[in-house]
Amino acid sequence: MWLFSLIGFCVVLYYIVQLCVFYYLDSDFELYLLSKLGKPISSLRGKVVWITGASSGIGRDLAITLAKHGVRLCLSSRKLSELMKVKQECLDASRGYLNDHDVFVLQMDMLEIDSHNTYFDKVIDHFKTLDILVNNAGRSQRAEWNTIQLKVDRELFELDVFAVVNLSRIALNYFIENSVKGHIAVTSSVTGLVAFPNSATYTAAKHALHGYFETLQNEVFGIDVTIFCPGPTATNFLQECFTNTPGEKFNKPVGADDKRLTSERCAKLYSIALANKTLFSWAGTRPMNFIFYIGCYYPNVSRLLIKTLGIENIDRLRNGRPLGES
Ligand SMILES: NC(=O)c1ccc[n+]([C@@H]2O[C@H](COP(=O)([O-])OP(=O)(O)OC[C@H]3O[C@@H](n4cnc5c(N)ncnc54)[C@H](OP(=O)(O)O)[C@@H]3O)[C@@H](O)[C@H]2O)c1
Repeated sequence: MWLFSLIGFCVVLYYIVQLCVFYYLDSDFELYLLSKLGKPISSLRGKVVWITGASSGIGRDLAITLAKHGVRLCLSSRKLSELMKVKQECLDASRGYLNDHDVFVLQMDMLEIDSHNTYFDKVIDHFKTLDILVNNAGRSQRAEWNTIQLKVDRELFELDVFAVVNLSRIALNYFIENSVKGHIAVTSSVTGLVAFPNSATYTAAKHALHGYFETLQNEVFGIDVTIFCPGPTATNFLQECFTNTPGEKFNKPVGADDKRLTSERCAKLYSIALANKTLFSWAGTRPMNFIFYIGCYYPNVSRLLIKTLGIENIDRLRNGRPLGES
């Protein structure tokens, strides 16, 4: 009898420790352990990594973090002048590991899906190879579900899903045809784990990415696939967000005292996930990280939590504001 009591006690203790740990960490437990005991980011030195959406936010900081460790980079997005600035920041951060040729700037609109093959060939012409494609370009959304126009649903899916799927398919075919042990990563979001209110299309898009890339993990062997889910992170994304109306941007800056993960920290955790080829990782500050944990493993509890706290409070938490603030 005492043996069953001991087992029961250990199980309860395990869950209590897990819950406490998630309250204090800023990533999932596996990523935390890998940051202490796993492969260092420098294990990627010399690899060619293409980051889409590298002109700002998480993509920019990911590029700089990887450059510090001598990773060769293709930086792509629409704004050439911003990309050139990021290129210089990467070269400065690289402490001599990288030269001008090692950081390739590619002006590219992800929505020009018919030109993806041409863009891909440009990267291969430049580096003669590709090791990792990081699908990071994307836009979030703030809007109540019943006001969102179908055209917005389509535009958001075109950028956050179809463009990502198409570019990834080209990269996967390249890896397979050229016997490259490649790696594809996608910047999802914690909205791919927990269905937060007030961004229904975005949440659906990130869930679609999970479905697609998890299928790749089960169907394409010999290629690594990482799904990385940032929680609220301080970037330009609230300005760039889709709303409910086609062509409109949310256009709100992130508040200086909003409690969000810094883009630098998010990029560091992302780099650790890439170096260790994790299947699935997430990052976020307290108490959001705790909510992600609950949402991931106990979805019924997270539904109850969202109902209990109410949409306004969930919005506040998502925006890094205290509960109950007006
Ligand atoms: N910040 C957060 O709290 C958060 C949380 C979860 C997930 N994420 C995800 O993280 C990723 C990066 O977002 P971020 O927060 O770093 O926002 P951001 O600073 O606005 O960066 C978005 C990047 O995507 C690029 N982009 C947008 N539309 C594009 C297009 N049509 N073609 C090519 N590039 C395009 C932008 O570059 P150009 O304007 O130069 O084209 C920019 O470099 C997104 O996938 C987002 O969903 C962010």
